[in-house]
Amino acid sequence: MKINVSDLAPDRVKTKLLVIPKKDKKKKIDIIKNRFLAQRVIEVFLEDYGLENIRKLGAKAANLAKEFKVDELSIVFPNVNDYYEASKCLVEGVILSSYDFDKFKTKKENHKLKHVTILSKKNLNEIKKGIRFGETVSKYVCLARDFVNDPANHATPDAFADRIAEISKKNKLKIKIYNEKQIKKMGMGCFLGVAQGTRKEPKLVVIEYKGTKKKDFYALVGKGITFDSGGISLKPSQGMHEMKGDMAGGAAVACAINAIAELRLPVNIIAVIPCVENMPGGNAMKPGDVLKSMSGKTVEVINTDAEGRLALADALYFVARKKPKAIIDIATLTGACVVALGYHVAGLVGNDDKLTDLIFKAGEKTNEKVWKLPLYKEYSEAIKSDIADIKNIGYDNGAAGSLTAAAFLKEFVDEIPWAHIDMAGTFWSKENKDYYKKGATGWGVRLFVELFNSLSVKSA
Ligand code: BES
Ligand code: MN
Ligand code: ZN
Repeated sequence: MKINVSDLAPDRVKTKLLVIPKKDKKKKIDIIKNRFLAQRVIEVFLEDYGLENIRKLGAKAANLAKEFKVDELSIVFPNVNDYYEASKCLVEGVILSSYDFDKFKTKKENHKLKHVTILSKKNLNEIKKGIRFGETVSKYVCLARDFVNDPANHATPDAFADRIAEISKKNKLKIKIYNEKQIKKMGMGCFLGVAQGTRKEPKLVVIEYKGTKKKDFYALVGKGITFDSGGISLKPSQGMHEMKGDMAGGAAVACAINAIAELRLPVNIIAVIPCVENMPGGNAMKPGDVLKSMSGKTVEVINTDAEGRLALADALYFVARKKPKAIIDIATLTGACVVALGYHVAGLVGNDDKLTDLIFKAGEKTNEKVWKLPLYKEYSEAIKSDIADIKNIGYDNGAAGSLTAAAFLKEFVDEIPWAHIDMAGTFWSKENKDYYKKGATGWGVRLFVELFNSLSVKSA
C-alpha cells in the first residue's frame, strides 16, 4: 500500500472515494467537495479529533474502500493541533484495519487497497513525517499479529526464534539464539522445566539494539510460549486453540525492538524472549516437582499451567544480571487479569512509580490502556513454598492470581526498576472492530515504540 500526502488547494483532484471527516453535523462541506472529481464522497462524523478518533477515521476510510471495492482513496486531513501525531494515527488506522491473515487460505481475498492520498491545506511536511513513522510502526504491529495468528505447528519455538532472527538481521541488530544445551549450561532450570513436556527444543532469543553511544540500556522481556496446553495440569479444550498466541508478549518485544531500530530511536535496548512449548509429554514436569532457577532460588511447581512465570523467571534473571536501567516484561500471563480488567485494558505492576507512570502515559497515547495494580508484600508471602523457596502459584482458589504471578516475577529482578505488563486480555480480539481484526491484535508494539520515543525525547 502506498500512502502519500497532497496539497488540498489545487483544484480537481481525481479519486474514487473521498473521505471527509467532520465534527459539526450541520456544517456543509460543499466547498471542499467541489474541488474533487470524486466518484464517491463520504462524510465521517467524529465527536472530536482526538488521536484515537483519528485512528478510527483511518480505519473507517479503509473499510469503506473495501466495502465499495475500490483500490484507491483520498482522505481529507482533519483540522488538528498536532499534524505529525495525527498523521501517524491516521496511517495506523488505515494499515491496521487493512490487515488480513490469509496465508492458509487457498482462495485469497482479492480486494487490496493500493493507494491512499492524504489531502491537507497545510503542514504537508509534518504529515509526511507522520506517515513514515506510522507506516513503520504499523508494519511491525502487523508482523506481531502474524506471529500470534500463526498456528503452533508452524510457529514452533525454533521457527519463531529463526523468524525473529531473520527480521532482526535485516535491521542489523545483534542477535543470539541460545539452544537447549546452552540454556542448560546457564542453569535455567525453570525455563527447562517447561520444555520437558515437548519434543521441541526451547530457544532463548536475545536481541540487542544500540541507538546511542551511551552505556545505559533498557531491557524488554517477552513471554514466548508458542503453545500452552497447560501441561500435566491440562487446560479444558474450549478456547485452547487461542493458546497458540501465548507468545504474544515475545512477539510484541521482538517487533517493538525492530520498529525502534528502523526508526533509529536514540536508546539502547536488550530484548529477551524465552521460546518454548508447554506440553504434557511423557517427560513433562509434574505438580510437586521442584526446579532450580538460574538465580539459585528453588521453585515448587504446584500447577504446570503457571508456566509463563517459570520461563520468564530465568529470562528476567538473565537480563537483570546485566544491570539494565530498567526492565519491562510483557506476557499473556494470567486468566485472572482478564477477569479483573477485561479485553481492553492490560494489567500493570512494578516496583518503580516513575517507570509505571511512563508506561501508563504511553498507553494513553496509543490507546493500549494499562491499569496499575498493587504489589503488596502479602502477595509475596502467598507464594512461599513448604519445601522450596517459592511456589509457582499463590492461593489455591486463584485469589489475586495476577498479583501473586507478579510477585513471583519480582523474585528474579533484584532491585532493578521493573514493570510487568499482563496482556492476557488484550492480545486477542473476538471481533473485527475499528482497526482491529478478529484474532491477534499486535498489542504492545505501539506502546513500546511510544514509550521509548518519549524516553529518548526526555534524555535528548
Ligand atoms: N497463558 C495462560 C494465561 C492466559 C489465559 C492467557 C487466558 C490468555 C488468555 C497462563 O499460562 C496460564 O495458564 N495461567 C493460569 C495460571 C494459574 C494456573 C495459576 C491461569 O490464568 O489460569
Ligand atoms: Mn499456562
Ligand atoms: Zn501460558
